[in-house]
Amino acid sequence: VRIRLDRLIASQGPWSRKEVKKLIKAGRVRVGDRLARRPEEKVDPEAEPVFLDGEPLFYRRHLHLLLHKPPGVLSATRDREEAVALDLVPEALWRRELGIAGRLDKDAEGLLFLTTDGELAHRLTHPRWKVGKVYEVDLDAPVGEAEVRAFAQGVAGFRPARLEPLPGARARVTIEEGKHHQVKRMFRAVGREVKRLVRTRLGPLELGPLAPGEVRELTPEEIDELYRAVGLEEAD
Ligand code: URA
Repeated sequence: VRIRLDRLIASQGPWSRKEVKKLIKAGRVRVGDRLARRPEEKVDPEAEPVFLDGEPLFYRRHLHLLLHKPPGVLSATRDREEAVALDLVPEALWRRELGIAGRLDKDAEGLLFLTTDGELAHRLTHPRWKVGKVYEVDLDAPVGEAEVRAFAQGVAGFRPARLEPLPGARARVTIEEGKHHQVKRMFRAVGREVKRLVRTRLGPLELGPLAPGEVRELTPEEIDELYRAVGLEEAD
């Protein structure tokens, strides 16, 4: 595929198209072994390597990140005052097109998935694709068989969900939707208060040992599994 040079470079790093134009004007971009002069020229990144300051740009159509959101951070791409999830993404992994697939409340923690692929993000959060989201919660009181049955039938107007009591006043819940405050509202419907909410899984993706505040790229295997889970062919 041939892509405009300025668009191509902007899609691979933190720069806007305007900033890329300046890089080209300043003579910092090469295509193959020649100096790039026109932002609008079309290049095929698979056939001709593009260099910025002598470093090759490894072209990838999309970027997918897993972030361990700490409590107190907004699931947003920008906010004037508050700390947002995108602030935790190191500059080298920052892309203008990154969006959040399935937000977490400000006080919630755990797996937050960021992707530049809008269709993938849409499918992961749409109930039609039945992608399970797993949450571990601390409650004000234990749950038992009655609550497990209630969740299996559907509470507070939500679809059936799987509830597993854990030792103490803890539980694991799996839902396929992702409505606003859904897990908290479901527990409130059975007389429990959620004290702490941690998302541990999104479909095939697991939070695993990622420390709070850390970000990593998905592995090629995870990307494959994720696209398969929502009936998409991976773009590249
Ligand atoms: N359910 C909630 O109540 N909050 C979240 O952040 C996610 C699911």
